[in-house]
Amino acid sequence: MKEIRAAIAGTGSYLPEKVLTNDDLSRMVDTSDEWIYPRTGIRSRRIAGPQEQTSDMAAEAGRRALQAAGAAPGEIDLLVVATISGDSPLPATACLVQEKLGLRNATAFDVLAACSGFLFALDVARQYVRSGAARKVLVVGAEKMSAITDWTDRTTCILFGDGAGAAVVQPAEEGSGNGILASLTGSDGSLAPLLHIEAGGSALPTSAETLAAKRGFVKMDGHTIFKYAVRNMAGVALRAVEEAGLKPADVDWIVPHQANIRIIQAVAKTMDAPMEKVVATIERTGNTTAASIPLALDEAVRDGRIKPGDNVLFVAFGAGLTWASSVVRWGR
Ligand code: ACO
Repeated sequence: MKEIRAAIAGTGSYLPEKVLTNDDLSRMVDTSDEWIYPRTGIRSRRIAGPQEQTSDMAAEAGRRALQAAGAAPGEIDLLVVATISGDSPLPATACLVQEKLGLRNATAFDVLAACSGFLFALDVARQYVRSGAARKVLVVGAEKMSAITDWTDRTTCILFGDGAGAAVVQPAEEGSGNGILASLTGSDGSLAPLLHIEAGGSALPTSAETLAAKRGFVKMDGHTIFKYAVRNMAGVALRAVEEAGLKPADVDWIVPHQANIRIIQAVAKTMDAPMEKVVATIERTGNTTAASIPLALDEAVRDGRIKPGDNVLFVAFGAGLTWASSVVRWGR
């Protein structure tokens, strides 16, 4: 049987209007632009309004991706939303997005792999399309990180931002050579305590005590995470390039998870790639977790940097720990 290759047919993204700068943050916690920018590469991030939920941002990004792909809502047979900050624990945020977009023929579910979430969801879409189980898949990464951030903790609140990005995945044009050439995912649960939210699940339900102790927010050992991030992102990216049958020099664009510009620079160095080949939005978006790769991708597609025939490398790392990388030959 001939293999069906999956391809990205269109992208979309959405950022909320409100901008929160490092100077704004310095009035909220004991920090400064002089501390944040050189260590992270972040100058500002977007923050969703109180009435703007993860599903709203996901739906807007999804709408734009459908439009770019020329896909009608009724054609989508699978919707996968990657998020760690869904509207509520139940139901899946994907079901809320399905309703907002009128995807009446879609099966909808969430994927939770933190900053690697979009690439995990893309991998799921690829497997459905390859097997013939789905024809058109909408993949979304969306986060309202501001809702799960402790705004009194300067070690985390400077990092995160809100937003959403999306892509339509469908069979590649036959004989074009385009599409997802390789996709790798991995995880190591022994490192789960390095980056987690303690309370709000069945192990530690929300209570007056957990609220008072702020145990329902993201906690992170940033220093240790940094080291694992560089090592695992570089390793999985090199393996994905090899699996795609390419050499690092064949990669035209690297679209990495946007956690820290120093992590991104270290990964680019391993790939022997100049920073001109890297799509970086972190200065204006901060770390938007599962939304970061599709946001950066959409920006580079829309401004014409990524062109048909380009080899695009995605690479991510996040809580779990999880990591993932894929290589796409960009189509029309
Ligand atoms: N402003 C001023 N000082 C600060 C701030 C701040 N915002 N935050 C921490 N400090 C202080 C610390 O208290 C510490 O002071 P001390 O030496 O007196 O104790 C000092 O600065 C150094 O702190 P470190 O945590 O060692 O700083 P580091 O250089 O490691 O930078 C950072 C911190 C930016 C968080 C970095 O570790 C990082 O980016 N880590 C990776 C984060 C990441 O990739 N996360 C994964 C994705 S997130 C997800 O999956 C949801």
